[in-house]
Amino acid sequence: QQNIRRLVLGNWKMHGELAANAQLLSAIRSGWNQSSNAAACDVGVCVPFPYLSQAESALHGSDIAWGAQDISRFDKGAYTGEVSGTMLADFGCRYVLVGHSERRSMHAESSDVVADKAKAALAAGLTPVVCIGESLEERESGRFLDVIHAQLAPVLALGSEAVSRMVLAYEPVWAIGTGKTASPEQAQEVHAAIRAALVAVKCPGVRILYGGSVKAANAATLFAQADIDGGLIGGAALVADEFLRIAEAGA
Ligand code: G3P
Repeated sequence: QQNIRRLVLGNWKMHGELAANAQLLSAIRSGWNQSSNAAACDVGVCVPFPYLSQAESALHGSDIAWGAQDISRFDKGAYTGEVSGTMLADFGCRYVLVGHSERRSMHAESSDVVADKAKAALAAGLTPVVCIGESLEERESGRFLDVIHAQLAPVLALGSEAVSRMVLAYEPVWAIGTGKTASPEQAQEVHAAIRAALVAVKCPGVRILYGGSVKAANAATLFAQADIDGGLIGGAALVADEFLRIAEAGA
C-alpha cells in the first residue's frame, strides 16, 4: 500500500438553501478546525453553483476546500446555462466533479464528453474528480471491469501529465443513495483494477475515491482497503457530525 493522502469530498447534489448551508458550513469548519486530524486528510465540499460564493465566504482560510459538481467543456461563449472552469476558479473552487453517474444517465454525458470536461477543469487550474462506475445490470452481468476500463479510456488518453493532476472516484451506480454499499472487497477489486490502469500510464499516486452509501459506520473499513484513498460522500455530507466522522476516518 502506497502512502497516499486521503481525500474526503462531500457532494451535496441538488440540496441546500442559504440558511441551512450557513449552519452546515460553519459546523464542518469549526468541527474540522478542532480536530487533531485536520492535517492528515484533505476535506472538501462540492456545492450547487448558486452557493459557491457562500461556500467561499464560509470556508475561506480554513482547511476545507470547496468545489462544484459540473463544468462546461467550453471556456466562454454562446453556451446558455453552462458554467466554465474560469468562472469556478473565480469563486476559489479547488475541485469539480465530472462524469457523475447522475450526469451520465440524466444528461447523456458520454465518456468522451467527461474527458473533455476533465481537460477543461485542468486548463482552469482545478482538480477534476472523474467519476466512473457500473450499473446494477453491468455488475450482475459480470462485465463491470470492462465498463470501468471503457469509461477510463478517454480520460487516460489525455496523457500522464494531465492524469497526474486528477482524482478518480469509483461509484457503483447500484450503491448510490440506495443504502447498499459495495463490500470493501467488491470496492477494492475495482480500485485495484483502476490502480493498475493508472500504473500503466505512470500515475500510481492518483487518488481513487470510493462513493456510494458511505457513512461514518462503514468509512473506516472502506478506507482501510489498499487502493481506496478516501470517499465521495452524498447523503452523509449533508449532516455535519456524520461528515466530520467520515473525515476523521480518512485521517
Ligand atoms: O457522489 C456521491 C454519491 O453519488 C454517493 O451518494 O448518497 O450514496 O453517499 P450517497
